Amino acid sequence: MKVRKAIIPAAGFGTRFLPATKSQPKEMLSVVDKPLILYTVEEAVQSGIEHIAIITSRGKSSMEDFFDQSPELEQFLEEKGKLDLLEEMKRISKLAEFCYIRQKQALGLGHAVLMGEEFIGQEPFAVLLPDDIYDCPTPCTRQLIDVSEEKGASVIVLGETDEEGTRMYGIVKPKKISERVFQIEDLVEKPGPEKAFSNLASLGRYVFTPEIFEGIKKTKPDHRGEMQLPDGVKFLIGKQPVYGVIYEGIRYDCGNKMGFLEATVSLAIERPEFSHRLKDFLKSLEL
Ligand code: G1P
Repeated sequence: MKVRKAIIPAAGFGTRFLPATKSQPKEMLSVVDKPLILYTVEEAVQSGIEHIAIITSRGKSSMEDFFDQSPELEQFLEEKGKLDLLEEMKRISKLAEFCYIRQKQALGLGHAVLMGEEFIGQEPFAVLLPDDIYDCPTPCTRQLIDVSEEKGASVIVLGETDEEGTRMYGIVKPKKISERVFQIEDLVEKPGPEKAFSNLASLGRYVFTPEIFEGIKKTKPDHRGEMQLPDGVKFLIGKQPVYGVIYEGIRYDCGNKMGFLEATVSLAIERPEFSHRLKDFLKSLEL
């Protein structure tokens, strides 16, 4: 079945970026000149997604304005003859069909995804976490959808990580099927190096069959009172095969300040208007 819908959880406080996120959503922080959430939505759309539910919370309505039309701004740009910008504003408001669902309490990523159950109905869907920017020849979510559509199963993006990563990510127990594809036998959330099954981490992109919702509902809150998504995935693994795909491309973890800085420098260097001057500037720092 074709994957047409996606859930983008964007309800968190963004505490790692305070004070920048005190009065604006983390997802609206800008890498070069685009907010994080735009990178995520563009990846979803380039992967074939047509309907997107963004899970939000109090104080985050600027995301809704961002993907809406802005007639006053558009008129202003037209009058000033800034036609490139005008086209860009129109493009953003037409990217997909959006729906916004409020998560009233911060009850975890699993709970945030569960908020989208009615929107999804009975079809496979993607989940994209806006912390990660993927810069890939084939959009990262598309890489997962290709495997999901072939196998008729849930698929999680995987990447190699180090000791520190075992404390930051969900870690899988993989059974190799081909060069990049694994069957996932187990998944544990942030186990630390001693309890990690492997060096393969789950990195913010998922395609799920709708049975994941049953798994999330059976999940018990963790010690922080949060329903974690990997616990729902563990339940799913007991019911049907779940696969993992090692992504091809570059990933920036914009969920922490260092990754955010790396993304800013690297993605600016990729842009012709900044490339030379930024490289010259970096050289002039004589690091
Ligand atoms: C979440 C997931 C975790 C995953 C990580 C990165 O954690 O719970 O399994 O590895 O995203 O995609 P968070 O970064 O929200 O703490």
